[in-house]
Amino acid sequence: MSEEIDLSSLYAMMRPKKVCLCKSVTEAQLVAAIENGCDTLEKLIETTHASTNCGTCSGSVRAIFNREMEKRKEGLPKP
Ligand code: FES
Repeated sequence: MSEEIDLSSLYAMMRPKKVCLCKSVTEAQLVAAIENGCDTLEKLIETTHASTNCGTCSGSVRAIFNREMEKRKEGLPKP
């Protein structure tokens, strides 16, 4: 008996999708940088170097930053 392996999923796990191709930055790296204190988009860009070349990824980097910051706001107690 053999199990079928979904190779595309396996490859995706092995080679995470890059958000920024120019600087080879993954979404996981962006999220980790935010978790480690990058609380502004400028800090995130400065730390990861994402979006510092052609700029094609700038919308994606901004969207990931905004999404992660919203998650953190939702976790805070309401005033
Ligand atoms: S793809 Fe991110 S700067 Fe070019």
